[in-house]
Amino acid sequence: MQTSDLLVLSLFSLLFDLCSLFYYNMQFYELLKTRRSIRKYQPKKVEKDIVDKILSAALMSPASKRSNPWEFIVVQDKVLMKKLAESRPHGSQLLAESPLGIVIVADTTKSDVWIEDASIAATIIQLQAHESGLGSCWVQVRERFTHNQKSAEEYIREILNIPTKYAVLCIISIGYAAETKLPFEEEKLETTKIHFEKYQKLKIV
Ligand SMILES: Cc1cc2nc3c(=O)[nH]c(=O)nc-3n(C[C@H](O)[C@H](O)[C@H](O)COP(=O)(O)O)c2cc1C
Repeated sequence: MQTSDLLVLSLFSLLFDLCSLFYYNMQFYELLKTRRSIRKYQPKKVEKDIVDKILSAALMSPASKRSNPWEFIVVQDKVLMKKLAESRPHGSQLLAESPLGIVIVADTTKSDVWIEDASIAATIIQLQAHESGLGSCWVQVRERFTHNQKSAEEYIREILNIPTKYAVLCIISIGYAAETKLPFEEEKLETTKIHFEKYQKLKIV
């Protein structure tokens, strides 16, 4: 191969890299803009390859010191989902008609920042679900209670046989959306929450 051919080849490769960088950045930003909490689902089952991809994404989540304190319980059984829906008087009922729930638990003895680690994994699950064309919603468990004041965590631990060293952070409900939600509008974002260099109080003029 001549030097001029090599030059053309590397120019093409550079152009390709730039294009794909732009394409992927755009894709990710669009994903963030259009992700909304979806609480109504079609009765359709989520395909195994999609569930597998969501779980692989979860396992690639960043975690402090790579301690990976999280574990994920995949629930698709309708009876179990209905029981999970009763974990709280409000805010968890959507699980009853959700085709898939991923219960996020963490071994609290493995990390002092398990809440952060497990929350990041939960967010990654939601984003991967959205990228796969699914809707999702976070259902809080930690620090929440059943209708008779039992801890929601304890209630879920019993239903799913979760050992006591694991805390239950949340359940991510996932399914094909049966409702539509508007994407975020950039001009309406709360930009006053952003400060540069030092914290600055908003000046009212
Ligand atoms: C830590 C956390 C806990 C949440 N808990 C619940 C919940 O228990 N039930 C629920 O329906 N939605 C829950 N959500 C979803 C929020 O209500 C939702 O993200 C918020 O209203 C903004 O809507 P959006 O996700 O469509 O932007 C939770 C979200 C987070 C981040």
